[in-house]
Amino acid sequence: MAASSFYLLHNLLTRRRDPNYPSAALKSIFFFMPTTLALATSLLIVLYISSTSTLFLPHHLQLTTSASASVNNEQPTKVFSFFPPEVVRFRKIWKRDGVLGETEDPSNFKLHTGSRGMYINDTELFHDRDVFFENYEEMNRSFKIYVYSHKQDDPFANVLLPVVFEPGGNYASESYFKKNLVNSHFITKDPSTADLFFLPFSIARLRHDPRVGINGIQDFIRDYIFNISHEYPYWNRSGGADHFYVACHSIGRSAMDKVVEVKLNAIQIVCSSSYYLSSYVAHKDASLPQIWPRQVDPPNLAQERSKLAFFAGTINSPVREKLLQVWQNDSEISVHFGHLTTSYSKELLGSKFCLHVKGFEVNTARIGDALYYGCVPVIIANHYDLPFQDILNWNSFSIVVATLDIPLLKRILQGISVEEYLILQNNVFKVRKHFHWHLFPVDYDAFYLVMYELWLRRSSSRVGSQVL
Ligand SMILES: *[C@@H]1O[C@H](CO)[C@@H](O)[C@H](O)[C@H]1NC(C)=O
Ligand SMILES: *[C@@H]1O[C@H](CO)[C@@H](O)[C@H](O)[C@H]1NC(C)=O
Ligand SMILES: *[C@@H]1O[C@H](CO)[C@@H](O)[C@H](O)[C@H]1NC(C)=O
Ligand SMILES: *[C@@H]1O[C@H](CO)[C@@H](O)[C@H](O)[C@H]1NC(C)=O
Ligand SMILES: *[C@@H]1O[C@H](CO)[C@@H](O)[C@H](O)[C@H]1NC(C)=O
Repeated sequence: MAASSFYLLHNLLTRRRDPNYPSAALKSIFFFMPTTLALATSLLIVLYISSTSTLFLPHHLQLTTSASASVNNEQPTKVFSFFPPEVVRFRKIWKRDGVLGETEDPSNFKLHTGSRGMYINDTELFHDRDVFFENYEEMNRSFKIYVYSHKQDDPFANVLLPVVFEPGGNYASESYFKKNLVNSHFITKDPSTADLFFLPFSIARLRHDPRVGINGIQDFIRDYIFNISHEYPYWNRSGGADHFYVACHSIGRSAMDKVVEVKLNAIQIVCSSSYYLSSYVAHKDASLPQIWPRQVDPPNLAQERSKLAFFAGTINSPVREKLLQVWQNDSEISVHFGHLTTSYSKELLGSKFCLHVKGFEVNTARIGDALYYGCVPVIIANHYDLPFQDILNWNSFSIVVATLDIPLLKRILQGISVEEYLILQNNVFKVRKHFHWHLFPVDYDAFYLVMYELWLRRSSSRVGSQVL
């Protein structure tokens, strides 16, 4: 609950940053916005942390909040927030005199008129379809990015320029983004017209460069920022706040340790987007979906799915250990650790739900895999700031399960009716195109959605040209 209010508030905040967002009510209370929002955000962050972290609760209390409470009651607590369609429920965010509130009763909302409210229908894929499409067009028309340029014969061209081949593998998202960006209409050669500046280094490629390697990445980034901040005026004038980089490898989380300005000011678009990492700043930074690229459509997405749930992977985290411990011999939830003897794609096509379970980090390519094969993702990765969170309503096409509730997994999944499942899966079919990279980007694909996330973040950090 706290988590979803948090996302809703975030949604509201990012919209407010858009000066053209047509809300007279918001404008009228504009004067009090900064303080109120700061207060509200801090409150919600504390709420969010306390609801998902063990820090705030004494041990005996934790035991009553989830798994064990449900075991005693023989009734699962509300551990997933998909709202069954027959219980038409709305959560409305209303705002009056700068106060944010929430009500589940739509008729209630009318009592709070005078301010513009939003309702959330949890079967709807977008938080607000109209706002998204309207903003998207404006983004597509006006958004401009300046990329620091490097010559073909730069000794680090392999790291700074887009790859010439078709990106592949686990960290392809990083390479696809850069390849798509530099060839797009978002590029400007005139820095004075740029909304944002792109730092083009590739963390994944630095990692494999024998001159740099895992231990040399921090020095390389420090030198790179030193170089651009001496050769150009743009970094210094904003402390890097209108700059961004894109990285999929989780090693990126320590890569900025020697230039704290990148971590604190620049926009980090990263796959390992965990609220729990000190290097990741929610709202300022955004999640990059980790997607294993595929070019052809899989056959027969709508085929019969006989298995309840599927997972395959290595045991590299306590969360996966727990999953193995509880479900390894189950006939309906099939978990495989180590080498998979059956076909991965057939397993994903034959399962109703596909598990994404935190490994070393919150991110893996499994959400993308599940969506591609029309399987409803079940996310077991506490603190994961999910990709495109500002745009998509994850409740409409996925199930989020807290790590603590792994023992309840079967009950949660079996508790989803056929009708509810069909709504979820239908939304999976619709959302697939947003989790797809193309060599030549296609409207609303992963590239454009990342651009949209950047666009939402641009005005909060825009530095006027008069500063120069
Ligand atoms: C919720 O959204 C779904 C999908 O757009 C729509 O079919 C349904 O009518 C909506 N429910 C309500 C109560 O508006
Ligand atoms: C986005 O811009 C590109 C290039 O101008 C154009 O081809 C495309 O149709 C635009 N898409 C939308 C939805 O406006
Ligand atoms: C910084 O600039 C120096 C001098 O041009 C160059 O030798 C070095 O490779 C650059 N380092 C990075 C990380 O860009
Ligand atoms: C940016 O700031 C650094 C540190 O203060 C300074 O050394 C450098 O000359 C400045 N860059 C420019 C282009 O003025
Ligand atoms: C699963 O089966 C193995 C081998 O029979 C057994 O050692 C293990 O204890 C079982 N695990 C559970 C959770 O039942």
